[in-house]
Amino acid sequence: MRDVTCIEDLRVLARRRIPRAFSDYAEAGSYSEETLRANRGDLEQIKLRQRVMVDVSSRDTATTMLGETVSLPFGLGPVAMTGLQHGNGEILACRAAHAAGIPFTMSTLSICSIEDVAAAVAKPFWFQLYVMKDRGFVRSLVERAAAAKCSALVLTVDLQVLGQRHADIKNGLSVPPSLKIKNLINMATKPGWVLSVLSGKRWTFGNLHGRVKGMEGVKSLAQWVGSQFDETLSWKDVEWVRSIWPGKLIIKGILDIEDAKLAAKTGATALVVSNHGGRQLDGAASSISMLPKIADAVGSEIEVMFDGGIRTGQDVLRALALGARSCLIGRAYIFGLAAGGEAGVAKAIGIIRNELDVSMALTGVRTVQDIGRHILVQ
Ligand code: GLV
Repeated sequence: MRDVTCIEDLRVLARRRIPRAFSDYAEAGSYSEETLRANRGDLEQIKLRQRVMVDVSSRDTATTMLGETVSLPFGLGPVAMTGLQHGNGEILACRAAHAAGIPFTMSTLSICSIEDVAAAVAKPFWFQLYVMKDRGFVRSLVERAAAAKCSALVLTVDLQVLGQRHADIKNGLSVPPSLKIKNLINMATKPGWVLSVLSGKRWTFGNLHGRVKGMEGVKSLAQWVGSQFDETLSWKDVEWVRSIWPGKLIIKGILDIEDAKLAAKTGATALVVSNHGGRQLDGAASSISMLPKIADAVGSEIEVMFDGGIRTGQDVLRALALGARSCLIGRAYIFGLAAGGEAGVAKAIGIIRNELDVSMALTGVRTVQDIGRHILVQ
């Protein structure tokens, strides 16, 4: 870990440490991965203005997310099966996030359960919700999140049907999973991962296990999840979620101005401009290219967050300059987790923090509130 200086180093290390099926799962985009590449490519096109001779001696990366003070303008976004990147992955990532003073979001499809994480961390975390066909089960999930004192509900709205990721099918990580012999052999060559996952609390979907009648193993649970994506989902369901969750609500997966306006009307606290990390509609616009249009349209009515392709602190700076109040990172911390557990997540957060801090200085801004379009080359 000492030689790790950037997120790409963590990605390479993660690939060495964990089975290929799970690295592929984390890295993949859907279909031809055009949108996955556009997310990164369009971020890299945005040029920062180099400013000199500005007193930047006292800098501060703190800001607020949902009205709460955070030490950095980003949090950890929801990622399914985090606990298969490293045993107890959700607990470790949450601890690293809280130690850094930023929020952690647990996925509905996590390996540790809501209760496992709540019992192992000192502060509230955010819970990501998939509205599945079985509304009774969804209601019970929301109640469990409330009982665990989750401080926000992140409603994912861009996964009514699943975008195909070729690698997952080739690796047998599709729904239902049927890992190929070559993957099992590959797993046996990663003893550190085997040890960490075997010593973890759980190996299957913790929020579902024992809660869905007749569904126990990973295979039947995954089959159940696959049959539960609800193609009928509509804004009416957001109203329903609001009626059973009185707390702060974040709508994640907005990539269109019209949808952003509809999301703002729901009374949600925030929306996340997102194309699900290029994992859903391939051929969709990059997340960063839609951000300024959406921020201009609804930024005064609803808190606008951003995700999609962030690998550096410079990327965070670009997103804030284009109107995001804050960001979520996904793969960047997952690489850290797979590479080195809690310390790896802390490393990922620290890398992005330092890059952001230095880049703020070199663009001549001292606080997150000072960041705006004026720091970009027009
Ligand atoms: C699930 O949310 C995924 O993108 O795999």
